[in-house]
Amino acid sequence: MNCCGVQTHDALPFPVNTSLWPWYGRSFDNPGATQTPRYKARPLNGIWASAPYLHNGSVPTLWDLLNPAKERRAVFYIGSHDFDPEKVGLVTNKVPGSFRFDAAPQGNWSNGHEFGTSLSPDEKTSLLEFLKTL
Ligand code: HEM
Repeated sequence: MNCCGVQTHDALPFPVNTSLWPWYGRSFDNPGATQTPRYKARPLNGIWASAPYLHNGSVPTLWDLLNPAKERRAVFYIGSHDFDPEKVGLVTNKVPGSFRFDAAPQGNWSNGHEFGTSLSPDEKTSLLEFLKTL
């Protein structure tokens, strides 16, 4: 469908400007990539210290990220400076001045990135310990 220069796409539940797609995914080592929209994820160095996660900060800890999207916390508070070494991220309790993050509105969604969610609890614990070393 095309309306006012903005097209819809089957894979996405909202209109996107497909005229930008030829630029997505291009890089010096892959200059011809034009097929599907994508971007390069950042390296995971220091990931233990950069909560909240994903591009919109919708996932408070690495432990949440290893849970299926449906089980990730829908509401949490950002503002504490206390580190949670088990879930690997910041403590998400409400503290004075903290910001209430609600993952329900479009743009705040925490869906996607289901990689690692089907690992066993022991494997997830090991993976979290590994991620702490990066
Ligand atoms: C168990 C394996 C994986 C782990 C532990 C992992 C870990 C992570 C973490 C911690 C982030 C958050 C980065 C940040 O917030 O700055 C991330 C983002 C991302 N990862 Fe992975 N990842 C895994 C597998 C994959 C795979 C297989 C792919 C691609 C096929 C992938 C693609 C991405 C992308 C595109 C993002 C950025 C998402 C966004 O910003 O919303 N990951 N990953």
